[in-house]
Amino acid sequence: MNSTVPVTLLFADGVAHRLDVPCGKKIVEAAGEAGLNLLTDCSNGQCGTCTAQLLSGTVEMQDYDTAVLPDQDRAGGTVLPCVCRVTGPCAVEFPYDSTEALAEEAAPIDGEVLGVRQVASETMLLEVSIPEGIQFEPGQYVRIHPAGTDFHRSYSMANLPGSRRLEFFVRLVPDGAFSKWLASAKAGDRVELSVPHGTFFLRDEDRPRLFVAGGTGVAPFLSMLRSLKAQSCAQPTTLLIGARTHGHLFALDELESIRHDLPHVDVKLAVEQDASADCHSGYATDLIANLGLDPSTRVYLCGPPPMVEAGRKATEAAGLPRGDVLCERFA
Ligand code: FES
Repeated sequence: MNSTVPVTLLFADGVAHRLDVPCGKKIVEAAGEAGLNLLTDCSNGQCGTCTAQLLSGTVEMQDYDTAVLPDQDRAGGTVLPCVCRVTGPCAVEFPYDSTEALAEEAAPIDGEVLGVRQVASETMLLEVSIPEGIQFEPGQYVRIHPAGTDFHRSYSMANLPGSRRLEFFVRLVPDGAFSKWLASAKAGDRVELSVPHGTFFLRDEDRPRLFVAGGTGVAPFLSMLRSLKAQSCAQPTTLLIGARTHGHLFALDELESIRHDLPHVDVKLAVEQDASADCHSGYATDLIANLGLDPSTRVYLCGPPPMVEAGRKATEAAGLPRGDVLCERFA
């Protein structure tokens, strides 16, 4: 017998939706059938975009990356709804407003490739023009669907909001579908872009900030720093960047220019191999312990799951509460 059970979805604005869901059904699918588009990206437990909190009851979690959801967090009730199946009555809380879930996916935005060029080892800069500038929160991402293909990938905008010219930094992945497309992409090729998504964005707060980036995780911080520069923001901000080698680093000239214009911004580099005198030899997260972080610091971590997890541990060890740490993971 396929019985239904009550599932309550709670949102940050206090709105609650109660659904009757057949046992065994995925929460994300049940929500979609009820007109609620829960935030997801990878849909297979690898990115953490959908992270939510189980308030009561139990759910069955299918395979997921424990670097995205460590056992300790799982034990504390954190769940990844994209891989959750309903097994009984439960309540799940989402860290964003119900209006974000209720909004129907807007029509895609037509884009045209302006150019593709290599900016570092394994990293390409893809520039896309769109008919009208789009507003977004610095740090958000769009899904890019190359015309004539059956795949899409998500990338953060590195440019300022409102621009008609979008910049994406893409890490080349051997045999990756997007990387293969990028190898032959040229000016004039068409892409479809989703509207901006994501909860990893610059908070407008009067407190120090720590940004930690791994690889192309620098992209959202470029957008954030460009916005801070446009506002002549005066809060102390430290950016730590980690990469495999110096040749994997990019946008260093622009970061130097931002550092020059905003004296309270500091940038520190770390590379795993062949570090030069101005780089830490090792991981960016190694540097956190010696920063002497102000207890009110807001932390932003963006990079591969192991880097994000190391960053969370290091900031926790430095005395910062988990609630003050925002994470964006990518594979
Ligand atoms: S969407 Fe759930 S982990 Fe990626």
